[in-house]
Amino acid sequence: MDKTDSIKITLKDVSKHFGAVKALDEINIQFAPGTMTTLLGPSGCGKTTLLRLISGLEIATSGEIWFGGENVTDLSATRRDVGMVFQSYALFPHMTVERNVGYGLGVLKVDPSEITERVQQALKMVNLDGYQKRYPDELSGGQQQRVAVARAMVLKPKVLLFDEPLSNIDSKLRRSMREDIRKLQKSSGITSIYVTHDQAEALAVSDEVIVINEGKIEQQGPPKSLYHLPKTAFVANFIGESNVVDATLEKDGSGKSVIIGDTCIPLPENKKVPADIGPIQISLRPEMVQIKAESSSGTAIEGVISQSAYMGPVIEYSIETKVGNLFTRAPAHHKQYQLNQKVYLHIEPAELIVIPAPA
Ligand SMILES: Nc1ncnc2c1ncn2[C@@H]1O[C@H](COP(=O)(O)OP(=O)(O)O)[C@@H](O)[C@H]1O
Ligand SMILES: [Mg+2]
Repeated sequence: MDKTDSIKITLKDVSKHFGAVKALDEINIQFAPGTMTTLLGPSGCGKTTLLRLISGLEIATSGEIWFGGENVTDLSATRRDVGMVFQSYALFPHMTVERNVGYGLGVLKVDPSEITERVQQALKMVNLDGYQKRYPDELSGGQQQRVAVARAMVLKPKVLLFDEPLSNIDSKLRRSMREDIRKLQKSSGITSIYVTHDQAEALAVSDEVIVINEGKIEQQGPPKSLYHLPKTAFVANFIGESNVVDATLEKDGSGKSVIIGDTCIPLPENKKVPADIGPIQISLRPEMVQIKAESSSGTAIEGVISQSAYMGPVIEYSIETKVGNLFTRAPAHHKQYQLNQKVYLHIEPAELIVIPAPA
């Protein structure tokens, strides 16, 4: 496939209901040509349903799905030119690796000598050349999933869909496999959608991340913007770690301050907060919170160490404060704080993440 053949995928007001269950509710998304987008969200939020709608395995209750300039809403799965990789690998157990990977090409009546060649190329891509004659039960889980990836890519589909492909693979292998999948996706230029409930995986493999919550899009953006500018407590908690605390926004003359408990932190001038935000909360990521034995600035949050755990390079601390228990880490080679010791939590005002409080 030539990268210039990459297609855009568009969902317009797509809903999917199963009886009374609104699995997806009026979804509008564009997936840019040649990109890898991750759908991230807790179990049951609608990720698999969204992939199945795009693949044609499931038909939308309402709305439209477009591949480039083609409306595919009513096309069956076999006519959509989509490759799919499942969590369960879904290989044919009675077929060799070679026949598994070549199966789709056989269905398309491709010339047998071309099949052999393309299967070999695909197996090379996933580092499994030489495994042609093995059966799935003679392979590790990671190798089986590589066969599944080769089987999807050998057809050079317009769209590649991955549904939690690494969930059954042990964590050490997962990292290298996700890097391989990303490399293959980039070099092929195939517009790809990758479902996971693992936020680290989502940040690592994607151009864009879409966070889904109960059948609705919560936020969409590049990994960095979702991490640094979550718009809701749900996103702040789901991506990375976060202490979400109640706070008040105060306008003083031309500037703004955030009040957390009895601590007032003036916001830098260039910090944008929507004018109509209403009641707010603050998301404090552990790496934004620095523990000190004294308050050097007057804008620190006072607290008492309530728990600590040695983790090798870092120590994790829980600190009891007026706004609740906060969690942070400090390098283990730094000064260590004792249980019940009074400490001050320093926060860089520019880093504060302001989000609307839940209604
Ligand atoms: N075939 C089905 N029949 C009835 N309900 C379904 C069906 N498929 C999915 N659902 C429901 O739709 C919601 C979303 O499911 P799913 O897309 O599988 O979530 P995820 O992949 O994010 O875990 C869940 O409430 C699930 O129970
Ligand atoms: Mg699922």
